[in-house]
Amino acid sequence: SNYDEMRARLLHWYDSEGRTLPWRIRPEDRAAGKNADPYAIWLSEIMLQQTTVAHGTPYWHKFLNEFPTVTDLANAERETVLSLWAGLGYYARARNLHKCAVIIRDDYNGQFPNSEAELLKLPGIGAYTAATMAAICFDEATNIVDGNVERVISRIFTIEEPLPKGRKDIRKMAGALASPQRTGDYGQALMDLGAMICTPRSPNCSKCVWQDYCSAFAAKTQLEYPKKAPK
Ligand code: ADE
Repeated sequence: SNYDEMRARLLHWYDSEGRTLPWRIRPEDRAAGKNADPYAIWLSEIMLQQTTVAHGTPYWHKFLNEFPTVTDLANAERETVLSLWAGLGYYARARNLHKCAVIIRDDYNGQFPNSEAELLKLPGIGAYTAATMAAICFDEATNIVDGNVERVISRIFTIEEPLPKGRKDIRKMAGALASPQRTGDYGQALMDLGAMICTPRSPNCSKCVWQDYCSAFAAKTQLEYPKKAPK
């Protein structure tokens, strides 16, 4: 079907053109049996929520050096964690980060739970982070939707309902298209496609592996999506 072909093309593109990020497991390491560390993935996803990859990456290295495990992070003083966070902004994230680490240490034996539903119960872990961690770390078939994915999906399917209401339709189509295999790679591939190709103001449609399937491209209306309700 079209969706199978779309998933195959996206994953193939990701394997050669996806971003190299320090927390991603390279295919050769994965083949050798290496799995993503939920702690390292959690840190990256919390840090990148309101922060670019370029700005957030040095902080990810700093935290992993200072606190190699989630228990080390839990054992640190909250003030120490907050001072290392300085420059990333949104300090509620840092307070929740420490609070979550303490819960993982005290109630979960120092191990992150291995399902989206359990991850969602933890402080600071919302729908996006739980879905992304469960897919990347545990290969659960979740529906990963961030701002990049919203833009890609709204263009592919020309979702007419404006945001924020339109998020319901976008999630439905994103879920229908999502890959049941390589779930973490698929989600990250879709985010990379949005960040690198299907950009807000100047999408590089000639390089897009989904061009043939894109309703907005066919209508030359890419820049109108995602539609937004007037303020
Ligand atoms: N933005 C935040 N987390 C990401 C990830 N894992 N892959 C691509 N873009 C991201």
